[in-house]
Amino acid sequence: MTLRSMWWDRNDMPSPEAAVLGGEWDVVVIGGGVTGLTTATLLARAGHSVAVVEARHIGAGTTGGSTAKVSVLQGTHLSRIARRHSTAVLRSYAEANREGLAWLDRFCGDHDVECETRPAYTYATSAGGESAARSELDALLRAGLDEATWVDRPPLPFPTRGAVLLPDQRQVDPVGLVAALATDARRHGAVVVEGERVRRVRGRDPVRVLTERGEASAGLVVVATNMPILDRGGFFARATPQRSYSLAFRTDSPAVDGMYLSADGPTRSLRDADGGRLLLVGGSGHRTGAATSAREHLDSLRLWTHEHFPGARETHAWSAQDYATTSALPYVGPVLPGAEQVLVAGGYSKWGLTNGVAAALAISGRVLGGQQPWASALEPWSTRELSGLPGIALANAEVGVELVGGWLRPLRHAGARPAPDDGDGRVRYERPGPPTAATRVDGREQVVSAVCTHLGGVLRWNDAERSWDCPLHGSRFDTDGSVLEGPATCGLRRRR
Ligand SMILES: Cc1cc2nc3c(=O)[nH]c(=O)nc-3n(C[C@H](O)[C@H](O)[C@H](O)COP(=O)(O)OP(=O)(O)OC[C@H]3O[C@@H](n4cnc5c(N)ncnc54)[C@H](O)[C@@H]3O)c2cc1C
Ligand code: FES
Repeated sequence: MTLRSMWWDRNDMPSPEAAVLGGEWDVVVIGGGVTGLTTATLLARAGHSVAVVEARHIGAGTTGGSTAKVSVLQGTHLSRIARRHSTAVLRSYAEANREGLAWLDRFCGDHDVECETRPAYTYATSAGGESAARSELDALLRAGLDEATWVDRPPLPFPTRGAVLLPDQRQVDPVGLVAALATDARRHGAVVVEGERVRRVRGRDPVRVLTERGEASAGLVVVATNMPILDRGGFFARATPQRSYSLAFRTDSPAVDGMYLSADGPTRSLRDADGGRLLLVGGSGHRTGAATSAREHLDSLRLWTHEHFPGARETHAWSAQDYATTSALPYVGPVLPGAEQVLVAGGYSKWGLTNGVAAALAISGRVLGGQQPWASALEPWSTRELSGLPGIALANAEVGVELVGGWLRPLRHAGARPAPDDGDGRVRYERPGPPTAATRVDGREQVVSAVCTHLGGVLRWNDAERSWDCPLHGSRFDTDGSVLEGPATCGLRRRR
């Protein structure tokens, strides 16, 4: 089974422009997703010389696997923020997302990108879910979203206990969006380099960006890699990598007429595409590199769909990951306090279409001297952010358990690990030396180091995507050891 996002089959991508980064730039943006390309577009339009460097191809990260609801109603996320922060911060977050939505709507309208208006719902199917959804409505009203209401019977083909409704939200084609952003950035003079992974960022004034094959210098570097690839700032310790699954189905008549997210677990996300001819179902998320079968998570989503939408015929299945921060807020600002030459943006908790654009607006405002009163709520080094330290400590206690457990796990199984079956992967402990990761795919056995090149986590096999995933901070590697995503910048060493 090949997992491939449906968005890739609907778009012709602009051909790659350059494969090696070099030269001197006002701004180098690392990462060609919605955040990086929106930032590049805004700064190039303002007359800055801009280079974007993307490790794979534009949209290859989370953006290309997104469900791409562009909504300020975000499941139960605003009540999560309301529990941790002041009403002023909650309002700023909502304002940032409202601005992100408005900018995206205008951009899509001007550049012929598919962008449809839909109502957004957070629906409940249990008493606990209803209470969570009602708290979300309270949070929306506190945030100033007066158009939010409660509906007893959302138009879903199965029973619910009601839903929060926010009208006039949007849904887009995220790959069409990044293609249009890249084209617009180029039209304003930006250069987009694809297939070139940044390994290091060094110095200041100018900042040096070192890639696999080249080097460039810039007055400003924007790290828009979702999880920042720089260990400075320790952003990996503030966020949990969460992988989740999406399925697309053809249906005989429109299955849903809005964008839905369940308040109950397991999370279920619904929207339509193709004028109602496709139903998108998402959910079954878990921490990246969890000790569970990814294939079973995908199957549980299929079962749920067949039960609730009988007759739907599957066309695509895929998976993607995003990072949920302990503070529940994104981080947008300097990599370290006062280090204005290197800015980072990420931690969108699966709401990066609005937040990624808001981050780009905040960064360009910072560079160009604009004023976004809401931007201070997203600052990574505010006292508010640092008050989340107990949550960070808890998240890292879990990471510590994983780290130690990962090194002990193969020891417990030493000598009892036969060669993997076809399509399977196994971690082996071969004394002397660190654990190895062995796979057999289409009869070909490959053995690479099982130790993540980021900070030494022991990898786990992902049986749906046939990859090696790190349970610590979400780096993922192909069976040949090359980096797929996450904060790691170097591939796994080949062992055989
Ligand atoms: C299953 C799922 C569904 C989602 N649905 C929604 C939704 O409905 N609505 C919503 O608002 N949000 C949604 N999100 C979240 C949203 O898609 C993301 O938050 C957003 O796309 C992140 O964009 P980004 O540009 O910051 O990161 P990315 O899109 O991940 O882009 C980062 C880029 O950086 C590149 N990169 C990484 N390392 C390097 C390096 N060393 N050198 C060079 N390049 C590098 C990567 O290849 C990648 O292309 C969803 C997320 C998931 C996982
Ligand atoms: S991603 Fe940090 S140790 Fe693997």
